[in-house]
Amino acid sequence: MKIDILTIFPEMFTGFLTSSLLGKAVKKNILNINCIDIRSFTEDKHNTVDDKPFGGGVGMVMKAEPVYKAIKSTGVKKHNNLYKKPFKKPLVVFMSPQGEKLNTDMVKQLSKYDHLVLLCGHYEGIDERAMNWVDKEVSIGDYVLTGGEVPAMVLIDAVSRMIPGVVKEKLSVEQDSFFNGMLDYPHYTRPAKFKNMKVPDVLLSGNHAEIEKWKNKQSFERTQKRRPDLLKK
Ligand code: ADE
Repeated sequence: MKIDILTIFPEMFTGFLTSSLLGKAVKKNILNINCIDIRSFTEDKHNTVDDKPFGGGVGMVMKAEPVYKAIKSTGVKKHNNLYKKPFKKPLVVFMSPQGEKLNTDMVKQLSKYDHLVLLCGHYEGIDERAMNWVDKEVSIGDYVLTGGEVPAMVLIDAVSRMIPGVVKEKLSVEQDSFFNGMLDYPHYTRPAKFKNMKVPDVLLSGNHAEIEKWKNKQSFERTQKRRPDLLKK
């Protein structure tokens, strides 16, 4: 999968794209991720990417032209439509608190695309005219961050886990919280006793059928207690 990140702070992604499982996936070319500096599409000597809002109001607005040019530089031709095939065209996603809230279903859908373009906003927003080249607005939750970079990292991390080869064990992805609509069961590792607290006997029993039953029951009970809304679905 190819991901282009359009940002005015490309340096924020350095550690993120070189560490852990993502770093490995990038090295192995399973993921081809590029940071594109929106500032490089400005033409004035100060590389201005923002300006005062027409009609007044607080804060600054990101200018349409550098954003438009940055999007076009990724090969985007015209408007796309999410959830409509083909997934081959680049899908342009604007990270925004006004967008549709990211969840597992959306993550699975986005992971089907060959090419995602993630636009990170700043200041009070982006000139609405640039939205003509955006296919979808995505929020990571009902709170406002200083910019779209951290939300883009959240989206990339979640989507990457669905790409074969990024997480070694497919089962590990499938058993995680939310994948099957339930929360994860509790995990334990050695030693079997820690500060007088023992690992549940069943996990040491070697009885795989009983262990499976225990895990399912724990998942169900946790979901019922912490996120009953998930069970209603
Ligand atoms: N940019 C600022 N806040 C955001 C949020 N909650 N989700 C996505 N992008 C954002």
